[in-house]
Amino acid sequence: MLYDNHNRPITYVRLAVTDRCNLRCFYCMPEEGIKYLPKQALLTYEEIERLIKLLASMGVSKVRLTGGEPFVRNDLMELMSRIVETPGIKDVHLTTNGVLTAPHIPAMKKMGIASVNLSLDTLDKGRFHTITRRDEFDAVMNTYHQLIAHGIPTKINTVVMEGKNIEDIIPLVELTKNHPVDVRFIEEMPFNGEGTHYPVLTWTHKKILEYIQWHYPTLDKLKDAAHSTSYNYAVPGHKGTVGIIAAFSRTFCGTCNRIRVTAQGTLKTCLYDDGVLDIRKMMRDGCTDDELRSALSRAFNQRPADGFEAESNRKNHRPAHESMSTIGG
Ligand code: GTP
Ligand code: 5AD
Ligand code: SF4
Repeated sequence: MLYDNHNRPITYVRLAVTDRCNLRCFYCMPEEGIKYLPKQALLTYEEIERLIKLLASMGVSKVRLTGGEPFVRNDLMELMSRIVETPGIKDVHLTTNGVLTAPHIPAMKKMGIASVNLSLDTLDKGRFHTITRRDEFDAVMNTYHQLIAHGIPTKINTVVMEGKNIEDIIPLVELTKNHPVDVRFIEEMPFNGEGTHYPVLTWTHKKILEYIQWHYPTLDKLKDAAHSTSYNYAVPGHKGTVGIIAAFSRTFCGTCNRIRVTAQGTLKTCLYDDGVLDIRKMMRDGCTDDELRSALSRAFNQRPADGFEAESNRKNHRPAHESMSTIGG
């Protein structure tokens, strides 16, 4: 097992396979999109495979493919199956917006993907268009139904936004009645690719919980798994669960087991750092596996104890001028 300088095990890598996306969720990107990376700037699949093998040999056992939207990149399924087969990698997960996902679900089930997190902020077609600026609601709902039908463990990620989708909270909780789905409500974070979004967070995790409890007074608290990003609950008698992710107001730092690799191969050992190692450059300069392993180890030994606090102390509390789409959530 690999430990960082604060004795936290590092077992989980979140890998962005692209910064591109086929939606334009307003809390993530401006209408015109962000300035996308040129293709040659992305880690190639061969480079990704090499990196995953190396990380697995160092103790990483969980991989999450993120983006952008992972399915916007060609031949994603090929990469996924190679990662699933990598010795040492126990579970592979996917975070997707569901626009292009449905046709691949039988193959994902077959290869043994561990779970899928589906971004879905509303159950209303009109509001979906307002939030994502695209007309893909039916495709996303089809993905949802296919995931459930194929028995793939599924979480729904819903960013809670005043004036945008508050009326969806209860209908989304109602999905848990008949489906074994984990619906998670997320506090909005100030990462919209413009650096102009300074939300005064009205829907804090506390307010979301109170709102749900008001409708479901018997809501049960569940035991949260180690490293869980969400506080978890269930309505008695429902098949699924309800989670709340305090992405904005709480720090996950104390038990953080995750590192991130951006689409261009930059290692982030914390959501809030600006990138601590240029893996792509090392590889393209011809480094050996041992050299890369040493560089990764050094980076893991310089992790901040509390990146969240460091971010809060940034000058003027300026939020990172980055889109979630480039940092992979
Ligand atoms: P699992 O723990 O594997 O279920 O996944 P996850 O919840 O980490 O992944 P997902 O991609 O579904 O992300 C859900 C939300 O949690 C997104 O809004 C992420 O940005 C947020 N999130 C994930 N990791 C962190 C983190 O380290 N810090 C903060 N503040 N938010 C995070
Ligand atoms: N605040 C909170 N969550 C966000 N996501 C994307 N941008 C933001 C933001 N600004 C979520 C998406 C997706 C997950 C990976 O990150 O809804 O489900
Ligand atoms: Fe795309 Fe996800 Fe960003 Fe929406 S939140 S624009 S689906 S990357």
